[in-house]
Amino acid sequence: MRRPQLEPPLPSGSLPPRVTIYEVGARDGLQNEKQILPVQDKAAFVRMLTEAGLGTIEVTSFVAPKWVPQLADAEELLANLGDLGRGRNRPVLVPNERGLDRALALGVNSVAIFGSATETFARNNLNRTVDESIDMFRPVVARARDAGAWVRAYVSMCFGDPWEGDVPIAQVVDVCRRIMDLGCDELTLGDTIGVATPGHVQRLLDALGDVGIGVDRIGVHFHDTYGQALANSLAAIGQGVTTVDSAAGGLGGCPYAKSATGNLATEDLIWALDGLGVETGVDLKKLVATSVWLAGRLGRPSPSRVVNALAESV
Ligand code: HMG
Ligand code: MG
Repeated sequence: MRRPQLEPPLPSGSLPPRVTIYEVGARDGLQNEKQILPVQDKAAFVRMLTEAGLGTIEVTSFVAPKWVPQLADAEELLANLGDLGRGRNRPVLVPNERGLDRALALGVNSVAIFGSATETFARNNLNRTVDESIDMFRPVVARARDAGAWVRAYVSMCFGDPWEGDVPIAQVVDVCRRIMDLGCDELTLGDTIGVATPGHVQRLLDALGDVGIGVDRIGVHFHDTYGQALANSLAAIGQGVTTVDSAAGGLGGCPYAKSATGNLATEDLIWALDGLGVETGVDLKKLVATSVWLAGRLGRPSPSRVVNALAESV
């Protein structure tokens, strides 16, 4: 089935001509799988994503292996990938200086720290309070920048928290501001448990703009628990955001956040953006074939509607 072509494309209003998809399937997706995928399969996955045209691919995490055994093979994966696993567009997660040392030793020059807007998730995910986790990040960001690395800062639980419930926008903005003050290049708003709605997205973006964090420095990261991830991403794009996270096939979740399900499926995002005439540079057919292949390796079907609709035709 081909998407019906409208001539001319839908009027795009204030939509940007191009959106950068920040692909998180290899990290956010695979960190949450019960079965640990062999390193050769992970490398093949990253190669196929590259081949499909994904420019930015978060490759893995340099976290404590006891905390996330699924990604304990980060060194082996980067060795397997060679140059394909490094560079400005191949970020990796680092929580602390130990993680940064491991990454820099391999020639990584793009890293992501990951904080929390709430105390409970900071404790559950990082074994730290919010203040302690910001203290942990301070030398990581300073040393990463000294080494010439690009630094992304995730803030999780921006739209709600499974233990604390609603998270006030002022609290989210305060944490975002303190984390960006460390010197990060990009802020990424995490809807870890997928509870955001488009109006909430707009209100948070407006509030961040009011404290000087503009959409040019913001990425968005929606999980799809309530089926809102695409609507939320489009709302953010409509406000001027041009970096959107998604995971091939809708993989994803967080091992330390109950009720976190998969990320927005990259295929679903591309289908919508294609229809709006917004460029992504991704070959949808090749990406669907990648997700079908990975679903076979993981032994479970992709939750993506678009993957399922197109699977027969690739
Ligand atoms: P801790 O237990 O307080 O740390 O964990 P520690 O410093 O006491 O170290 C404990 C052990 O881990 C020690 O080993 C350390 O050497 C080792 P031992 O002496 O017991 O043998 N260790 C490490 N080993 C390798 N690499 C490291 C490292 N650090 C310590 N970097 C820590 C604190 C931050 C390490 C831990 O809590 C951790 O690794 N957490 C990561 C959890 C995680 O990865 N969660 C998923 C990613 S976040 C997410 O998915 C949300 C996101 O997608 C956005 C959204 O959806 O909102 C980004
Ligand atoms: Mg996530």
